[in-house]
Amino acid sequence: MTTPLLSLSGLGRRFGALAAVDDVDLEVPAGARHALIGPNGAGKSTLFKLITGAVPASEGTVSLGGADITRLSEHQRARRGISQTLQHSSLFLTQTVQQNVLLAAQRHHGSRHSLVPRRQSAARDRVRGLLADVGLAGRADVPVAALSHGERRQVEVAVALACEPRLLLLDEPAAGMSPAESARLVTLLTSLPESVTLVIVEHDLDVVFALATSVTVLHLGRVLLTGSPDEVRTSDAVQEAYLGTGRGSLFLDGTGPAHQEVS
Ligand SMILES: Nc1ncnc2c1ncn2[C@@H]1O[C@H](COP(=O)(O)OP(=O)(O)OP(=O)(O)O)[C@@H](O)[C@H]1O
Ligand SMILES: [Mg+2]
Repeated sequence: MTTPLLSLSGLGRRFGALAAVDDVDLEVPAGARHALIGPNGAGKSTLFKLITGAVPASEGTVSLGGADITRLSEHQRARRGISQTLQHSSLFLTQTVQQNVLLAAQRHHGSRHSLVPRRQSAARDRVRGLLADVGLAGRADVPVAALSHGERRQVEVAVALACEPRLLLLDEPAAGMSPAESARLVTLLTSLPESVTLVIVEHDLDVVFALATSVTVLHLGRVLLTGSPDEVRTSDAVQEAYLGTGRGSLFLDGTGPAHQEVS
């Protein structure tokens, strides 16, 4: 059997008495489009932080390409190919689109590269290419503050790709997007090469089911189910987990919790 790109074993994180992530086992093969879903507070963002190293694990291991990276710093993990977009934006608003992506590329490659003019222009060419990939070719010189919400999310994907990830973690990339913007995001993510393995946390189930080749449902910090999109859609246990949140049935009408009123 081939080694999964990402492997989590018995992974846990406690905050005081709260087990935010509890004994999580998960294997994500290279090239997968894996979705992580679950009610608010299920532990999705914390699980991402355990993978990136932003938060240290209380127990268990994280492996990338078969190597145990549990004890590595966030920076060391980034150098090994883990990149992410955050639930809350971290762009520099007064800088242009191109400057934001260039800064990320320079941070990744080390600032000494930015002192060599030949490397500077190669880096700028690469950033232009990335912006074209994410559908922002004409927006390079626009300050991020002047962009729509959807365009900012596109910049964030470009920023994450500038770090040449093997594993790209996306935390709620479609949050706050219009239907047209989410559709564009799906097109963008679908067009990424298979060399970039995706794990996406998303409440918009239209996005999840348009993209995902496999899905994990997290509930109260634990894995409720990992399976194909169809297995997840038809699981009684998954329905119950969401019903318990008072959000009503999730999958029957094709809309996610973000679209539903909490009664
Ligand atoms: N730094 C922290 N200190 C204390 N508790 C935390 C911390 N970070 C997260 N938690 C708690 O851990 C639980 C899981 O939070 P997390 O943000 O991972 O959930 P989530 O699934 O991403 O939710 P959402 O869908 O709302 O983004 C929540 O109860 C949260 O309050
Ligand atoms: Mg979250």
